[in-house]
Amino acid sequence: MTIELDPKTLAPQQIWNSPQLAVIVPTFNERANVVSLFDKVTTALGDIPFEFIVVDDNSPDGTAAVVKELARRHANVRCIHRIGRRGLSSAVVEGISASAAPYFAVIDADHQHDEAILPIMLDKALAGDHIVVGTRYAGSGSAGEGLSKTREAGSRLATRLSGLVTGKSLSDPMSGFFLMRRDVFDEIAPSLSNEGFKILLDIIVSAGRARARRGKELRIGEVPYTFRPRNAGESKMSSIVVVQFLGLVLSKMTGGLLPTSFLLFGLVGATGVIVHMSTLWLSHEKFGFNFFYAQVTATIVAMTFNFILNNELTYANKKLRGWRYFTGLLTFYAVCSIGALANVSVASWIYTFDRSFYLAGLLGVLMSVVFNYSVTKVFTWR
Ligand code: GDD
Ligand code: MN
Repeated sequence: MTIELDPKTLAPQQIWNSPQLAVIVPTFNERANVVSLFDKVTTALGDIPFEFIVVDDNSPDGTAAVVKELARRHANVRCIHRIGRRGLSSAVVEGISASAAPYFAVIDADHQHDEAILPIMLDKALAGDHIVVGTRYAGSGSAGEGLSKTREAGSRLATRLSGLVTGKSLSDPMSGFFLMRRDVFDEIAPSLSNEGFKILLDIIVSAGRARARRGKELRIGEVPYTFRPRNAGESKMSSIVVVQFLGLVLSKMTGGLLPTSFLLFGLVGATGVIVHMSTLWLSHEKFGFNFFYAQVTATIVAMTFNFILNNELTYANKKLRGWRYFTGLLTFYAVCSIGALANVSVASWIYTFDRSFYLAGLLGVLMSVVFNYSVTKVFTWR
């Protein structure tokens, strides 16, 4: 038997080259965008060997299947298909961790980021920058038609806010478009919060601190580009994402001591107090319940409200659904009831030492927030 040798020379994508750059693309419902993005990135990168890693959170539109089909035709394409998890930041971290390329870039699937600047970003990194950020707010960059007026104002405000924690005058820390050195990332990966939408901000704060501890500076480069309107599909940005972002900034201000989820849990608890008081008033004034029944009703309503909000906001990345939603609600009731007992006993105990009513009350409340947070984290949103 003779083996026919293929007389054609191999196409560049058939020759395996160890990738110099990993292009990480987080996706959720981006079926109509991924393949054309791959073509654009391939054109932009020319002969730079790269791999294209899509991290899809089991999108209902079947993005993962489309990427796997693409991967069957191109050796440098891979799909990390995550099931039962959601979240932009954690998807990005997972994509980066799956690659060994010395440099990686993160880019949105919806064509809003201009892939044409990738080679310039890589050159800057090769010349010594640790992180190179695609910026809409410096030089010739612009948010163009890509953002509505409100989104643009919000984005600028968030940029100012984040200046509080980065301490750097970085023009676009909200950007989801950046390229960086793997070794710099690996060093700080364990300290990233993994929550929310704004991974770059988190990386810059953590890497800046890690290097400052060794008396070194973090070199950040910027390359301007024009933010384009989304190609196909819908944005996943929402008011929940905005509140999560505020939680991230606060968490970083405490040096990461208080996790974002704790701050959000506390915030939800605070709104629960308002719900409690309104229900108490309503059931007493409008429905004529006596104090005992009014208080019981208000407690149940407030706990239910807190559960729903925590499930949507604090634990959006581990959202309970279906049957687990109900078992989750029951464990939440149980834990909060014990938390309330803990609250009262701690407060009464403190009151025996320090006869200040309000201080004891406040410490009792703090006690139950810490208790409810730590226990529901294990039993409800495990
Ligand atoms: N895997 C995964 N999981 N991907 C997600 C998720 C998620 O839960 N949520 C969003 N994505 C993907 C989207 O599919 C898209 O590729 C990218 O993340 C950005 O999401 P968009 O829905 O397009 O959000 P945006 O345009 O509002 O926000 C983007 O633009 C900002 C600049 O205004 C993000 O890139 C931000 O990081 C960026 O700062
Ligand atoms: Mn977008």
